[in-house]
Amino acid sequence: MGTKDKVFDTLRANRDQWVSGEALSSGLGLSRAAVWKHVRGLRQAGYVIESAPRKGYRLRGAPPLLLPTEIRGGLETSVWGQREIVHAFEIDSTNARARSLVAQGAPEGTVVVAEYQTGGRGRLGRSWYSPPGQGIYLSLIIRPGLSLQEAPKLNMLLAVAAAEAVAERSGLPVGIKWPNDLVVNHRKAGGLLIEIGADMDAVEYAVAGLGLNVLTAGFPGSLDHTATSIFRESGRSISRAGLLRGLLRRLETVYDHQRTFGFEKIRRRYIELTGLVGQSLRVEVSGRTITGRVQRIDEFGALVVEDDQGRASRVVSGDIVPTTGNAAGR
Ligand code: BTN
Repeated sequence: MGTKDKVFDTLRANRDQWVSGEALSSGLGLSRAAVWKHVRGLRQAGYVIESAPRKGYRLRGAPPLLLPTEIRGGLETSVWGQREIVHAFEIDSTNARARSLVAQGAPEGTVVVAEYQTGGRGRLGRSWYSPPGQGIYLSLIIRPGLSLQEAPKLNMLLAVAAAEAVAERSGLPVGIKWPNDLVVNHRKAGGLLIEIGADMDAVEYAVAGLGLNVLTAGFPGSLDHTATSIFRESGRSISRAGLLRGLLRRLETVYDHQRTFGFEKIRRRYIELTGLVGQSLRVEVSGRTITGRVQRIDEFGALVVEDDQGRASRVVSGDIVPTTGNAAGR
């Protein structure tokens, strides 16, 4: 738990009562200046904290949070979210924290969630815009028991589970833009960053990071034209904790299905949600551009693209630009 979380925890435990600056700093082993800095940070994140000379600080109001107790109330899973839930007000990246928990032996089902990321990471070395209290910034520890070759299948599984959960809770038509963006009306509302640790033949762990724009009203710069949020699309401020419970439940259902029945049904659903087969597109793959028509999505989630001369290329990662149709439009 970070020091800001400790300051908040103390104020929350004494909600509506004054806690002196002295009690906070000596109780938490912080300087008075550090306490003040954290209070300022919490205020910026939307918490109403009064301060008065000789009295100290008093928490009066807090926006709805993704605290473990909020998530667990009404959570209908048996593993996901039933193990440790690590919550942070502010973190560099939930994926980075999850990876350090993996190194300490954290089991499958461990969840890391944050209100705000200062260094949220996206695919292909990009960053992930993670403003305080407006999104879900979540990382899950998975120990999938897959061979290294099968690891990409996890991407399909997670993308399908996330898209279905968001659609169910928000009522919005959520599609997948290959490989794992969640899109609504052609704009990106969420994305997955899956990081894997493996030896020569088996996946030891996967950290699945999901970023979802829930309440965000506007985005900085050019992102405002390409990104969206559930609030922007539906005009509704849905509960982040409720959505997170829905995500964990759907993830568990799809994950368990795969363990018993394999990936084929998930792949078919993935194909449906991407709407990509038969579409023409351009893909940028490490500096090279492939243009053609998507013939199929194979059992690992790779695109098989056929060009004008009938030559097929298998594409495992990259950015696609559809040139016809309504791929992932939703
Ligand atoms: C992408 O579309 O590029 C993937 C974005 C993934 C962002 C999430 S937010 C929670 C987790 N922690 C991170 O640093 N990144 C992922």
